Amino acid sequence: MRIVRSSTLMCILFVLSAVVMSQISPKPVKQRNKLAASIERGKKVYADQCLTCHQADGLGVQNMNPPLVKTKWVLGDKKQLIEIVLKGKKDGVEIDGDSYSNVMASHADLTDLQIADVLTYVRNSFGNKAKAITEAEVKTVRAKLK
Ligand code: HEC
Repeated sequence: MRIVRSSTLMCILFVLSAVVMSQISPKPVKQRNKLAASIERGKKVYADQCLTCHQADGLGVQNMNPPLVKTKWVLGDKKQLIEIVLKGKKDGVEIDGDSYSNVMASHADLTDLQIADVLTYVRNSFGNKAKAITEAEVKTVRAKLK
């Protein structure tokens, strides 16, 4: 009786620790993969939608289209950044003493996921390093604009 009980206990402990381990260890890997997948998808969206103006290296075209390298918009407030893609931008920007006043059109026709991916790509390319932007965050900003 006693042997049965202790082996049952061992069994429960084993299952419990397996559950705990599976909760602890694979998560960061999953999140990394999620980020990598978003960047990968975002790279394609960038090539289709942003590259002609902001260029493959994100450096833009002097005095026409601004660079996307460590600017306060790229690395700053997510909501403001999402709004730029949804609404476009035409009030002009000054970056490192150069001013850019071409018009950027709205890209509201992209899906929430495409916008999240392209911004996550931009925020993790061209020397930038910033948190990913999620589909849900884009959805929230879009809903408030309507
Ligand atoms: C037709 C050319 C064009 C396209 C296409 C374009 N942009 Fe822009 N973008 C501009 C211009 C011009 C500005 C500056 C507008 C202003 O404020 O006058 C700008 C501004 C920005 C800014 C803020 C300023 C900065 O440099 O940080 C961000 C961020 C940005 N664009 C991201 C994007 C992303 C992401 C895409 C693709 C979804 C995109 N743009 C597509 C021309 C373009």
